[in-house]
This record gives sequence, structure tokens and C-alpha cells, in this order.
Amino acid sequence: MNAGKRALPGCFISFEGIDGAGKSSHIEALVQRWLPRGVEIVRTREPGGTPLAESLRELVLHRPMDTLTEALLIFAARRDHLQRCIEPALSRGAVVLCDRFSDASFAYQGAGRGFDAAVLGTLERWVQATPTGLRQPDLTLWFDLDPSLAARRVAAARTPDRFEQQDEAFFRRVRDGYQARADAAPERFVRIDAALPRESVYEQVVAALRERGW
Ligand code: TYD
Repeated sequence: MNAGKRALPGCFISFEGIDGAGKSSHIEALVQRWLPRGVEIVRTREPGGTPLAESLRELVLHRPMDTLTEALLIFAARRDHLQRCIEPALSRGAVVLCDRFSDASFAYQGAGRGFDAAVLGTLERWVQATPTGLRQPDLTLWFDLDPSLAARRVAAARTPDRFEQQDEAFFRRVRDGYQARADAAPERFVRIDAALPRESVYEQVVAALRERGW
């Protein structure tokens, strides 16, 4: 399921990084500029991606709650998203581009909020189980950026949600959480230096896909 080299179509790519790292604009650029015409592309996001999961996203991003509730809602949203959107799309041979997936739970809830990583691991195994093994992205592009720079970008761009209101120390922990996930799955993760100018960041994204023969 996590084959390092797998031809398009029928693949699952996730995009990760702290808030303000700029991943969303590069997903858009990929859709517009790189992916071949005639291939079905499913562009989606987490939490979210289905009507139920988008409702849960609203709660998670804007209502106060404790960290276990937050983790359960995020994984409930993920379950619905996998069952109704991602798995059917992969079965059709679509390219799924997902703005965040379960690495974000380990980085934000685990490293950021200090929630029990073993419980997250259990939720991951329950929620991402498939008849052939654990569903993970085929490739995860991690947009890595210094938290102080990311905070300046977020402040300039939008009104912050519950996560974006966290302090810089929180985002340093989240970044460390992504680093730990990348170290644990080096064949799946590619680190993108998101501090570079936008065009250079995009070139790194395309290079990562080409390296896999895509
Ligand atoms: P984000 O992609 O940043 O949305 P937007 O670009 O619209 O702000 O995602 C929303 C937030 O959800 C982000 O701050 C991280 C958080 N999040 C978690 O804490 N855990 C998760 O498992 C996921 C998927 C997201």
C-alpha cells in the first residue's frame, strides 16, 4: 500500500506542515500546472472532506474542548472521510491530494498538546484499517518552516482559528512532532524547505513527485 514507486493514477499524497507554511497554495499549483489532464484528481482536506467531517471540522476549529474530545472528533472525521471519499477515490484510480492527514494528529494533538501518542496510535490503527493493512499516504510532502516566520505569515493573512492562536512554543513542538514522524517513515516523507521563495518551493514539490517516477 505504501509502495515508494507507484505510477499515477491511483495514489494518495498528503500535505503537512505548521500553519502558515504555505502548503495549500502549492496543492492548487499542482492541480493547475503539473498533474496530467484526463486523470481524476480528488482534492480534499482534513479535518473535513465529507459533509459530516466538515461539520466536525467546524466544531474542532472553533469550539473549546479538551484534547481527548478533540482527538476523537478528528479521528471520527477521518473515518468518515476515508470511507466515503478517499477509499472509493483510490479504488477508482484517482489521485487524492489531501491537505493534512493523520501525521497532523501526531504533530498537533500529540507533540503540540502533549496528548498520549500510544492512544493516537490505537486510533490510527482502528480508523485507518483496510482489508490489506493500514492506510497511509503513498507520499507525504512536509512543508517545513521556522515557526516565527510561519506566525508572521498567518498574522498577515487571516483571523486565527483555535490552533493558529497558539503560541510559538506550541508550533515548535508541532514542528518537532512532524520531524519525529518523518524520521519514523523516511520512505514516505519528503521535507520541503518552505522558507524559500514560492517558485523554489514548488520546484521541490515537483522534484519529489518526479523522483518517484510520477
Ligand atoms: P489547515 O489545513 O491549517 O486549514 P486552514 O488552511 O484552512 O487554516 O487545518 C486546520 C487546523 O486543524 C490546523 O491548524 C491543524 C489542525 N489539525 C489538527 O490539529 N489535527 C489534525 O489531525 C488535523 C488534520 C488538523
